[in-house]
Amino acid sequence: MNDRVHGLDNGLTNYGDRDFARFLRRSFARSMGISRELLDKPVVGIAMTPSGFNNCHRYMPDLVEAVSRGVLAAGALPRPFPTVSLGEVFLNPTSMMYRNLMAMDTEEMIGAQPMDSVVLIGGCDKTVPAQLMGAASAGLPAIQLVTGPMSTGRHKGQRLGACTDCRGFWAKYRAGSVDSDEIKAVEGRLSVTAGTCAVMGTASTMACLAEALGMSLPGTAAIPAVHSDRLVAAEETGKAAVRLIESRLTPRDIITRKSVENAMRVLLAVGGSTNAVVHLAAIAGRLGIKVPLSRFNELSDETPVLVDLKPVGEGYMEDFHVAGGMGALLRELRPLLHLDTVDVEGRTLGERLADPIDWVDRAIVRPFDEPISEVGGLVALTGNLAPDGAIFKRAAATPTLFESEGRAVVFTGLEDLAARVDDPNLDVRPDDILVLQNAGPHAAGMPEAGYLPIPKKLAQAGVKDMVRISDARMSGTAFGSIVLHIAPEAAIGGPLAAVRNGDRIRLSIANKRIDLLVEENEIKRRLADHRPPPAPVRGYKALYRRSVLQAPDGCDFDFLSHQADAR
Ligand code: FES
Repeated sequence: MNDRVHGLDNGLTNYGDRDFARFLRRSFARSMGISRELLDKPVVGIAMTPSGFNNCHRYMPDLVEAVSRGVLAAGALPRPFPTVSLGEVFLNPTSMMYRNLMAMDTEEMIGAQPMDSVVLIGGCDKTVPAQLMGAASAGLPAIQLVTGPMSTGRHKGQRLGACTDCRGFWAKYRAGSVDSDEIKAVEGRLSVTAGTCAVMGTASTMACLAEALGMSLPGTAAIPAVHSDRLVAAEETGKAAVRLIESRLTPRDIITRKSVENAMRVLLAVGGSTNAVVHLAAIAGRLGIKVPLSRFNELSDETPVLVDLKPVGEGYMEDFHVAGGMGALLRELRPLLHLDTVDVEGRTLGERLADPIDWVDRAIVRPFDEPISEVGGLVALTGNLAPDGAIFKRAAATPTLFESEGRAVVFTGLEDLAARVDDPNLDVRPDDILVLQNAGPHAAGMPEAGYLPIPKKLAQAGVKDMVRISDARMSGTAFGSIVLHIAPEAAIGGPLAAVRNGDRIRLSIANKRIDLLVEENEIKRRLADHRPPPAPVRGYKALYRRSVLQAPDGCDFDFLSHQADAR
């Protein structure tokens, strides 16, 4: 190590006497049973996120131990510290509301505590984006480790994985083809190990994007949570974090416009989660990188879907791992990628991909010229209903609905939806378009409510999909012909607020548009009467409402974005 300040001497507590602060810190560190020899070493912080409310992080203690082993082996002192943990299904009103809180916690604890580099251990949907956002702003060398995906369960001989199969069985239960005894049995067979959802949902997508950005070690995104390779990856991540202290590579060196575009290519090629579009915008936004929706669509039109996993295809993340994982996929995408980006090891992507790969299961990772779809899984829409954009997951939608015009059936918010969607008297037909208002970031924290249920009377009649539109998000494990993230949202007076029952709406995936077929003057007249919903008055929720940006800016806080840094 050179003679710059390192280890526990970083960021001394302010007592007005630096030597006393150093003496006191080392004395207190001794109380943790650390030898003088180790106290003189550089320090690797380990941002850990165990929680009794986060099943996806159940093996966190084992991962922390393995990372610590790697740090010690490489000659530094590991110091685990807790941050906020976000278990997707345990949070109300929605985990999305707390992603920015976790990002702030991560950034501040990296900056406030004495460390030379940091390992970020996350997994469940919002945790990896929160950690990358925080680390990007903290500016210290950082490396991401994910907890890894769950393994699949079995029900009557069928493989089950959270949570695409949760939704499939629940839709059958609502339609009456699965009874209450069977749904109870399925409940115990969907999530059978530690780890994140078993399909290419948001957590798996973000794990792949972290690797594509260069922020985690090559080949680590898809290793199952319970596989011994996951612990080996954790140990290697600890060693790499020590090397980062010397190389001084920070997230700003690794997350660049080019690596963000590479990550977008991967998102499109895995048929990944719509949520990743928001999270990637937030991570990139911390470093002043903005990729316009028009560029996103260019990438989408050139990037084939190559990975055959649910919810777009048939496989599970454990299949992706044994099929060759990200290494296999990146090699197929090679002609489309920027090869001069660098990863946490300081290697360019081109150097990484020059290494040979032993075997690829072509049933899971298709060759470039035999894709599942010739165009990317997601597409951005604009139109008079979404002047600032919307997202549509074409890979998980019904192609016959791509060009649709229908009558709007409007729900004015989440409570209205819950109260009326299954009402036998609801005036709804299979070719209608279901509209949900006031579920965007300001109104509701942008929950995963965009997967509106098919009204019960239509589901029981065999209707499996309808066009549904909203300013909400959708789980990465969900599927259907669903327009999401409409911006600006209804609650701040976006045109979505102007839709009334019976209006005509046109969706055109060919033209990448979503339009309300109502005269412009009439839309303006309706919006002139718009009143925003009441705002919370105290605490974090009040801060959230005041500060959250719209989906195209990643729903970050205005005071945390790169623009705020520049002020
Ligand atoms: Fe944690 Fe799905 S609930 S990844």
